[in-house]
Amino acid sequence: MKVGTQTRAIVTGASRGIGRALAVDLAARGATVGLLARGKDELDELAASLPGKHVVLPCDIGDNASVRAAVKSFIEQTGGLDLVIANAGIAHYGPFMQVPIEDAEAMVRINVLGTFYTVRAGLDHMLDRAEGHVVVVSSGAGLRSFPWAAVYGATKAADRMFAEALRHELSGTGVNLTTVYPGEIKTNLHTHEQDRLPDWYRPKDAIPAEEMSAAIIAGVEANKRSVYLPPLVKLLGIVHGISPRLADRMLRILRGGTAAPRQD
Ligand SMILES: NC(=O)c1ccc[n+]([C@@H]2O[C@H](COP(=O)([O-])OP(=O)(O)OC[C@H]3O[C@@H](n4cnc5c(N)ncnc54)[C@H](OP(=O)(O)O)[C@@H]3O)[C@@H](O)[C@H]2O)c1
Repeated sequence: MKVGTQTRAIVTGASRGIGRALAVDLAARGATVGLLARGKDELDELAASLPGKHVVLPCDIGDNASVRAAVKSFIEQTGGLDLVIANAGIAHYGPFMQVPIEDAEAMVRINVLGTFYTVRAGLDHMLDRAEGHVVVVSSGAGLRSFPWAAVYGATKAADRMFAEALRHELSGTGVNLTTVYPGEIKTNLHTHEQDRLPDWYRPKDAIPAEEMSAAIIAGVEANKRSVYLPPLVKLLGIVHGISPRLADRMLRILRGGTAAPRQD
């Protein structure tokens, strides 16, 4: 699909990071954007800074009724929905046994169930019209999961598997789907845990959110099955798929021993 003045798009996690960059990009192209996140003040401030008229939809993505109400309100206010970007997500890194179970539950609720709720609410409308595009933001961690990110990686692998199957289910419906695999992107995803990030994590190599957003929109316009940024994420997925042991070796070179401490 071409993204332009006719496009009505919903972005979850629009207040910060990748979602915010997407909202800015979409608005710059003349799209009408539904801005979803919990923080209303940040969304109001963002909407006021964007060209055009947009819809602020404060909601908790981990609550199905809240998501459904937000999507319904967007469609009522704009007359339709062409693009759904299920982007909102959270991370809590640390050794599995030290991650509070409530944090693990929150990751599953927001990263996995939140994606299901968003896509389902959007598809209800798009399938009726037999057109539209869905974007699911997974992660490089959904291709090869990392130590100290076991639960986060599991949620992102769930997003990946969900999107892979759904893309085929949508065959012939007129609705398309793109899965996104970001590597490290410069956002506030880990701001709350700066002092306890694993050694393999390399924030200095992180890519600006604007580049990720541009790649996602180009992927939607080209109806790509997947978007990887940086491209090395794709290579890691391929190598891990062929030989996890080889991927471990590759990661030890690129990220040091903490990325793959076991040699057996
Ligand atoms: N940054 C990276 O390096 C990276 C790498 C791979 C994948 N990703 C994925 O990219 C996506 C975006 O992450 P980001 O890096 O842009 O993170 P971010 O800067 O922390 O932004 C996260 C956004 O999600 C929203 N959000 C969080 N919990 C929510 C909830 N319960 N309901 C509604 N909105 C919620 C936040 O707003 P509120 O807090 O106001 O709700 C915020 O707008 C995530 O799915 C993440 O897993 C990121």
